[in-house]
Amino acid sequence: MATEIDFNPAADSKQARYEEFIKKLAALICQEYDEISVMANVSAALKEAFGFFWVGFYIVKDDILSLGPFQGSVACYRIKKGRGVCGTAWEQKQTQLVPDVEKFPSHIACSQLSKSEIVVPLLYQNSVMAVLDIDSDRLNSFDETDKHYLEEICKLVASTIYTEH
Ligand code: SME
Repeated sequence: MATEIDFNPAADSKQARYEEFIKKLAALICQEYDEISVMANVSAALKEAFGFFWVGFYIVKDDILSLGPFQGSVACYRIKKGRGVCGTAWEQKQTQLVPDVEKFPSHIACSQLSKSEIVVPLLYQNSVMAVLDIDSDRLNSFDETDKHYLEEICKLVASTIYTEH
């Protein structure tokens, strides 16, 4: 079933592309609850639909963020709470929208090509279980529209994989 979904967007505007994406995503993950499997397909779908430079997940394990499924070049394995954009999203339980990574004091550069970034926490029962990290090789790539829809996407993913079935 999942392999039959084409994530190439038909819509023109960013908002319409996200709306289209979320409908397809719901179909993609509706019958799969394994955390790694769902994150792997969500990363692939986001890459296919939006062409992000780097997109993937870090998962909270033993009080550290540990590299999960992703699409893009190799990345650092572990991030401490409060460190980098990812560790800050975890500590603050809030999305971090970073127009210029060089201006984010503790930014961790996995690639020198990364210029802007957005990190969205996946929450379950008010705890951060993981974060979705997206990097761009251009400055100012993400805005409030991305924040809004990526938060919707993370809510959908978190409720699918972390709710007891
Ligand atoms: N830039 C992130 C580290 C992860 S990579 O971007 C894949 C950070 O500052 O947390």
